[in-house]
Amino acid sequence: MNYIITTEQLTKKYKNFISVNKVSLHIRKGSIYGFLGPNGAGKSTTMKILLGLTVPTKGSFTINGKQFPDDRLKILKEIGSFIESPSFYSNLTGRENLEIIRRILGLKKNSVEDALELVGLTEFGDRLAKKYSLGMKQRLGLAGALLGRPPILILDEPTNGLDPSGIHEIRNLIKSLPALYDCTILISSHMLSEIELIADDIGILNHGRILFEGTLDELRQNALQSGYAAENLEEVFLSMVEKDNTARKQRTKL
Ligand SMILES: Nc1ncnc2c1ncn2[C@@H]1O[C@H](COP(=O)(O)OP(=O)(O)OP(=O)(O)O)[C@@H](O)[C@H]1O
Ligand SMILES: [Mg+2]
Repeated sequence: MNYIITTEQLTKKYKNFISVNKVSLHIRKGSIYGFLGPNGAGKSTTMKILLGLTVPTKGSFTINGKQFPDDRLKILKEIGSFIESPSFYSNLTGRENLEIIRRILGLKKNSVEDALELVGLTEFGDRLAKKYSLGMKQRLGLAGALLGRPPILILDEPTNGLDPSGIHEIRNLIKSLPALYDCTILISSHMLSEIELIADDIGILNHGRILFEGTLDELRQNALQSGYAAENLEEVFLSMVEKDNTARKQRTKL
């Protein structure tokens, strides 16, 4: 299998709290990988490790053939990211904000217009960022992430705070990206229903541990075998988490 990201037993400990616990991910090149888990599961921490924003306590990872920690700087060039709410210079326009990123990355002049076009912001490019709606801000965040057309996009809850039509809009945009330019997307969410329409593969995280990794079809099979209606995957996901929480409580009682 052609994996573009693999992590091996990735672990992050804060004092005596384990935020990410022996997480091994396998992300196929060209796929959209949905990284699911309830609040506090460790999704953002895992993504921050991949982006070099925090150091793992244990474990290693490889991104597009480059191995952590030896190729740390090369890894950064492979990734465009959107972590939590992206921040902008609010008194500059969308176009000017992207222009700053373009200069820092040393990209061609037309990359700003290309990115605006890709996210559907061309006609709003000259509006101040502070006057953008939430959905437009998320689009601008995405434009910033994909400005250099990186082979990998890491998007941490890019639909956070959007209304249903905003979610729909951003979801369609993300779904279209691998076909528009050759990329692989790792996207986190705490709702399976939001991810199942776009993801090829799913990793489910709870309390820092991977509960499931596989294709959506495999998750459906898994659900059928456990007696769930396969059309309601959200319920399958939630009960997987609940079962794990109950098992954890019993273990701590022993
Ligand atoms: N700097 C830190 N120091 C101590 N604990 C931390 C730190 N960063 C994260 N944690 C803890 O690690 C756990 C995982 O946090 P993380 O932000 O990765 O979860 P998440 O899956 O992204 O959750 P959410 O859906 O709420 O964004 C949480 O219990 C959090 O409090
Ligand atoms: Mg998070």
